Formats: sequence, structure tokens, C-alpha cells
Amino acid sequence: MAQKGCCRSAGRKMSQSDSVICTGPDLEDSLIFLAGTSTCSTLAEEPCGGVAKRIFDTSDLSWTPDFDSFGRHAIPVIDEGRFTLDHVLRPFARGSKAQIEILLDHAAGDMKILAKRFPCDYLQDDSASFHHSNPQSAEDPWTEIFLGLVLGKQRASREQDVVPVVPSFGVYRDLQDDVLLLMEWSPGGDLFEISSSLGAPGPEREETATQLLCALLEAVTRLHCKGIAHGNICAENAILRVVGAEVEVVLIDFAMAVHDTDLSATMGPRGSLMYRAPETVGDNAIYDARAADLFACGVVGYVLATGTYPWQSTAGDCKAFAYVQKNGPKKFFDKRTITMGTSKVPVSQVLSARLQSILAPLLDMNPAERRVLWH
Ligand SMILES: Nc1ncnc2c1ncn2[C@@H]1O[C@H](COP(=O)(O)OP(=O)(O)OP(=O)(O)O)[C@@H](O)[C@H]1O
Ligand SMILES: [Mg+2]
Repeated sequence: MAQKGCCRSAGRKMSQSDSVICTGPDLEDSLIFLAGTSTCSTLAEEPCGGVAKRIFDTSDLSWTPDFDSFGRHAIPVIDEGRFTLDHVLRPFARGSKAQIEILLDHAAGDMKILAKRFPCDYLQDDSASFHHSNPQSAEDPWTEIFLGLVLGKQRASREQDVVPVVPSFGVYRDLQDDVLLLMEWSPGGDLFEISSSLGAPGPEREETATQLLCALLEAVTRLHCKGIAHGNICAENAILRVVGAEVEVVLIDFAMAVHDTDLSATMGPRGSLMYRAPETVGDNAIYDARAADLFACGVVGYVLATGTYPWQSTAGDCKAFAYVQKNGPKKFFDKRTITMGTSKVPVSQVLSARLQSILAPLLDMNPAERRVLWH
């Protein structure tokens, strides 16, 4: 079975025995709900629950930063007495530049919220000084904080036409001058974790996988409609959000996002090896960042439906990817096998014609083909 796709998570194996963060009845019900939904329509229009709104109301709604003037100086100091650390969800030690923490918010009845902690030394003072210190970095944590905050605040304040992202509760500096991006904690887990719990490939798994893929595509296309491309779509950067009886897929981790520019002429490397659209590979590549996001959605859809990655990398010497490049996704589905019990079965016999007809254009080498689905 394949390794987890995002570089920083490499080494983790995908297997049927992997458990999700929350395996309680809520998640199981949600997946049944998803499986019962038969179209690509919105899964949940309700932006957030009453509790999230309540704690969000205590922050400064009038502050609307624009990216060019956004930096450490604009970030308020946290009220230290309000939050205590419950546990660390993902420590720095796994090679990440940021730590993921679960805090108790005493002003909201000890509700658990998630904080992404960016250390002072890594972050620098603003986007310009970050890039000066990290000239090779494909990521910009200031972009992540800015978009996480702006889109997440719109989400939390229930504005119309919002992008499905995790609601944000604000961004603060602590006494060490680390920056904390506070957001709702969705214990439903990310799509990688969910993929590991979906059971053997087959009609039941496929039904849920298709709904999750459609919900992801909806989130991504709504983001594109706002003039933003995500740049690092992968199963780990999409979260299952459960609010009461409603379920949706929301986006996180905007560190490679493209915004305030022409999305059709983007430059620079983005995304992890398995998810990178082929036209983005190469030092001088100029590409449409929206089409690249759609390719990555296709890889997520394949992972959800089969429990394996289609290839190890879209750059360099990967035989599986070389085959797709030469023959196209449909022939690849005929050639590629997955292990079912003791036998190896071609993907084209495991997945329905319907799902193959969604995945094939998304995974097409020609970026223009990927957008056909949405016109
Ligand atoms: N709001 C959230 N609710 C639930 N889980 C989350 C949430 N935010 C992050 N996570 C979990 O933490 C993981 C890491 O988060 P994130 O993608 O923001 O960090 P990262 O990939 O290390 O980012 P970076 O590359 O910027 O350091 C996610 O894949 C997901 O499993
Ligand atoms: Mg991530």
C-alpha cells in the first residue's frame, strides 16, 4: 500500500487497519449520509454552528487586512488566560514548520479548538522578510495565515457565497511571539485518514469516495470562483466537517495558494510529488493553477476509491506515471491493478464506468480537458 502523500507525512502507510481520528457513531453516520447523496450538489450550506459563531463574535470583525500590509505588527496579542493546551495533535518533530495543537477555550465553555502554531524564527515579520530568509521555499506561511483568516472569518460569520474552509477564530501572537492561527477543530479527520477507514475497494467504498470527491471538487471550484487556487490539494489538506446532521469537505493549509494574480499564468513548484500536475513540473513552467488543482483532486478521488496511489510521482522516473503520459488515464485504468484478496484486478474492473468518467478528465495530461467537467 502507498505512503501518505504530503512530503512531511511521508513514511506513513495507508492500510485498511489505519484508524481515523474519530471513529465514533457521528463519523459513521456521516459517511452513510454521504453515500446516500447521489449528486455533486452542495452537501451542506450551513456555514457553522452556533458555538463557533459565539466565540468568533468576541474577536475584531472590523479588521480586514489586505495582504500587502499584513504582517506580525497587525496581529493582536493573545489573551493567555483564555486558552490552555489540551494536547499536541502533530508536533514539530515530524519535520513540519508548524505545530498543530488542540486548545481549550475557557471563554466558550472549554470548547476544543485547533491552533496552528508558527514559530517566530520561521515566520519572520511578513511575507517579504520570510521569502528573504527562505528564498527556495514553495510555501508562504503568511499566505496561509492570511487566507485561513480571511476565508475562515467569512465562513464563521456566515456570509453568503463562502468558500468551504474551516471557520477561523482569529490569529494571535503569544508571549514568545509565535503566531497562532485559531480555527474550528473538525475531529472527523482529513480525507487521507478517512480513506484508510473505507474498507475494500468495491461499490460501497466507491459510493462514499464519489461523494467525498464531489464535495472536494465543489470546495475547490468555489475557491477558484473567488480568484484563488489552493496549490497543494491532497487528501491530507481536505477535512471532513460534521455539523449536526450535515457533512461537508473543507479545505485547509493555504501555504502554497495563488491569489491576487492571474491564475492562468502561474509559476513555481507547488504540491507534493504524487499530486503535482505534469504541466507544473519544470523550472520555467507556466501553468493554470486551477487546472493543476483539478488534477490533484483527481488523484484524491483515485486514492479515496481504491485505497492506493495511482503513481509515486508525476516528476522524474515513475513508470506508472510514464504509462499514463503515453496512453492516457483510461488505458491506465485497464493496465493498473489493485490487490483484491489474493488476486490482482485491473482498476477498470473495480471502479464503475461512472467514476472512471469523472476521474479520467481530471487526470488528463491536457489541462484544458480537466475543466470540461465544469463548463
Ligand atoms: N481544523 C482542523 N481540524 C481537524 N484536523 C486538522 C485541522 N487542521 C489541520 N488538521 C490536521 O492536521 C494535519 C496538518 O495540518 P496542516 O495541513 O495545516 O499542516 P501541514 O501540512 O504541516 O502544513 P504546513 O505544510 O503549512 O506546515 C492535517 O492534515 C489534518 O490531519
Ligand atoms: Mg497539510
